[in-house]
Amino acid sequence: MKITSICCIGAGYVGGPTMAIIAQKCPHIKVTVVDLNEERIAAWNDDDVNNIPIYEPGLSDLVAEARGKNLFFSTEVEKAIDEAQMIFISVNTPTKTYGLGKGMAADLKYIELCARQIAAVAKENKIVVEKSTLPVRTAEAVKNILDNTGNGVQFQILSNPEFLAEGTAVQDLLNPDRVLIGGDATNGQEAIDALVEVYANWVPREKILTTNLWSSELSKLTANAFLAQRVSSINAMSELCEKTGADINELSKAIGMDSRIGPKFLKASVGFGGSCFQKDILNLVYIAKTYGLNKVADYWEQVVIMNDHQKRRFSNNIVQTLYNTVSGKKIAFLGWAFKKDTNDTRESAAINVSDFLLNEQAKIAVYDPRVKEKQIINDLIYLKSRSLDDIKKGVIVYDNPYEVCRGAHAIAILTEWDEFKEYDWQKIYDNMQKPAFVFDGRNILDAKKMTTIGFVFNAIGGANE
Ligand code: UDX
Ligand code: ADP
Repeated sequence: MKITSICCIGAGYVGGPTMAIIAQKCPHIKVTVVDLNEERIAAWNDDDVNNIPIYEPGLSDLVAEARGKNLFFSTEVEKAIDEAQMIFISVNTPTKTYGLGKGMAADLKYIELCARQIAAVAKENKIVVEKSTLPVRTAEAVKNILDNTGNGVQFQILSNPEFLAEGTAVQDLLNPDRVLIGGDATNGQEAIDALVEVYANWVPREKILTTNLWSSELSKLTANAFLAQRVSSINAMSELCEKTGADINELSKAIGMDSRIGPKFLKASVGFGGSCFQKDILNLVYIAKTYGLNKVADYWEQVVIMNDHQKRRFSNNIVQTLYNTVSGKKIAFLGWAFKKDTNDTRESAAINVSDFLLNEQAKIAVYDPRVKEKQIINDLIYLKSRSLDDIKKGVIVYDNPYEVCRGAHAIAILTEWDEFKEYDWQKIYDNMQKPAFVFDGRNILDAKKMTTIGFVFNAIGGANE
């Protein structure tokens, strides 16, 4: 079967970039991305492509090229489902905040809604592709809903998890390490082949891996768990480095040169963030517990516990270094996004660190090159730890890095934006309170240069000290 029409439900950080690449690489396929969120769709359709809702290097050019030709953004979910041969489900699967599995399990209510909607609308056979990260065996539930509530048409379910990382999404999609397609080879080979053919338009066939549904679903959770585990492992060692005089950067280099370990994902930090790592590990822990595998669950839970510890440790260090009180002191945050080159702030360490410091009555001043004030305030409201009034009293957002640091007692680097390295640090130092403290939560600044200027400089894991 040759695919000529695709619809993607969910115009987020995964659905948007993925569909833009498919549209660009497959001019013969009409790609429609739909979302219930009218504001988000309007932003995707903004005449000025710089206003698309997601900041991702290279993405606005891609959208400019394909939009209106074979790439469309719309709120007409039913129409798009009706017209498409293949439907990607790329909606959010946040951690449940209520009931059974609260705080651990993935909330599948948006997935279920999509399945019910597809079943209600479809008048012809459809291939349904799980793009969102899902607990293992979700495809079974999706298939049950489709088959039991549909109009008698045939549905084939595929799992096609997305491995792109934010900030490098376009490159990751153009040159993926692998594309994973899970399906039922006995009854659904035609659907598997159809999706393989879509990717084969630009991905070498040897990188397109087909597996059964459950391996595909579980591989995505496993990949994220392994990546997060590496960050927690190196962060655990950063604390030991601080006690022993070892340097975490030297340690990372030394172990990363072992080809069995490899150099990536060994950068010590204030803690990992992002919409995936914590959510997916908690989900994995929940699944393991559901099967009674408590030792497996405890093992993976430690990755999240260590990450929480790292964020707390970073905050405590600021308070202790500033003579045990930050009450009334201006602490400048450079960065709010969970990593550089994205405007995404979900689970960003900056949110927790600011929460701890607000509890200590600090005055938080924030500058991030891509995150807007509204988002920062919303992130703090979402914590439900204080009123909007208190947030506004405690947090000021700036649009200039030199102003955010002016008069500050300390600077905390929360995101590794490249531009932070290029600032005139002497000028920043001259305008700060003395002693002028810097807490580099990303180990991006040159410790020797900073101490020569006069800063009291703190890096994670004693890096370069
Ligand atoms: C991750 C996976 O990498 C990706 O394959 C999956 O599809 C989604 O989840 P993402 O969350 O976008 O991607 O970014 P990633 O680059 O993995 O970084 C996650 C967090 O870990 C960030 O906060 C980052 O700063 C932190 N990190 C990463 C470190 O602290 N140190 C490292 O060495 C690497
Ligand atoms: P991700 O990072 O996984 O892409 P996002 O939260 O950025 O997640 O995007 C998910 C999108 O899915 C949101 O824009 C949300 O409005 C949309 N969405 C959720 N449920 C539905 C639904 N039933 N129909 C259409 N869009 C939906």
